[in-house]
Amino acid sequence: MLSDALIQEIDSRIARLMPQEPAQAALLYDMTRYHLGWIDEALRPSSADPGKRVRPRLCLLSCAAAGAPPEAALAPATAVELVHNFSLVHDDIQDRSEYRRHRKTVWTIWGSSQAINAGDALFALAQLALAEGEIADPSTVVRAIRELNMACRSLCEGQVLDLQFEDRNRVGVEEYYAMIEGKTAALLAASCWMGALYGGAGEAPLEGYRGFGKHLGLAFQVRDDYLGIWGDPEETGKPSASDLISKKKTLPLLYALSASIGSDREIMESILAEPGPATHEQVRQLIELLSKLGAAEYAAQEVNRLTQAALEALASAHPVDPAGDELAGLCRRLSFRTR
Ligand code: IPE
Ligand code: IPE
Ligand code: MG
Ligand code: MG
Repeated sequence: MLSDALIQEIDSRIARLMPQEPAQAALLYDMTRYHLGWIDEALRPSSADPGKRVRPRLCLLSCAAAGAPPEAALAPATAVELVHNFSLVHDDIQDRSEYRRHRKTVWTIWGSSQAINAGDALFALAQLALAEGEIADPSTVVRAIRELNMACRSLCEGQVLDLQFEDRNRVGVEEYYAMIEGKTAALLAASCWMGALYGGAGEAPLEGYRGFGKHLGLAFQVRDDYLGIWGDPEETGKPSASDLISKKKTLPLLYALSASIGSDREIMESILAEPGPATHEQVRQLIELLSKLGAAEYAAQEVNRLTQAALEALASAHPVDPAGDELAGLCRRLSFRTR
């Protein structure tokens, strides 16, 4: 339903938003192009992993499921991919992550200060994307701008909580879900909502699409947490166990803490209580305990539960096939993704 050409059109739109021959500050666009996988570290053309494009796919398919051609949502689809990439460039600085999509992160090559500029530029390009191409009617554009920026606000709130939780020994599961609803689910919810808006959906279906994206986003992040511990770095493109090293309060860890007793709990609590990153040996101990306590199975169950909730919300919006079917299929596939 979504042709490769349509997905490529998103890259073309992003390319057109950057100055073609920047007289100054060329570095800014070297960094953004590098991050998007278009050039390598030496600025030579490259075709590196550009990411899964989950958010623009959701946006275009939601538009089609609302009854319009998917290309009617190219502007918001481009915007959500840019916002996502802005958040990744900043997130890698915040998480001190050295690898993403099988390559060095922007900050490890150009330093954190310049990488912040690259992230800021991607954020600005996202706003511009809404005002490019065939402009929708003004009230649609205003609603989309508001939705996108509300999602960005939630994303920043989620990122603040995520970093605060690193230094806390105890975080409740409800606090965890509020954090990932902000950092991840808000943008997926906005992607579906904006797609459906550009597809002409009415108010009730719009809320169905929002609920679909939100629950899919929650499932997506729990799966990300799972892959961060048990995933194969060859597939994810990110080193495993980095969440454990930085003591991120991921769902598997929170579950293991709540399910443990006696010496298991003491070991985990004493590792988390120590200031600074976990050592190699501590990470090994944590993974052993998490596996023993069934944290992987628990995370998988939660992904299933949230995926079901997403599919119910989607059904409530009465999506038109084949796009409706594709949205449901994408949602199911993402729940057991390995990258
Ligand atoms: C990574 O998102 C950040 C999270 C919200 C978990 P994706 O897994 O969608 O990243 P790419 O774009 O495919 O690399
Ligand atoms: C996901 O962050 C959300 C954002 C980037 C805003 P994570 O830190 O959990 O994701 P990865 O594992 O770095 O992709
Ligand atoms: Mg993070
Ligand atoms: Mg991160």
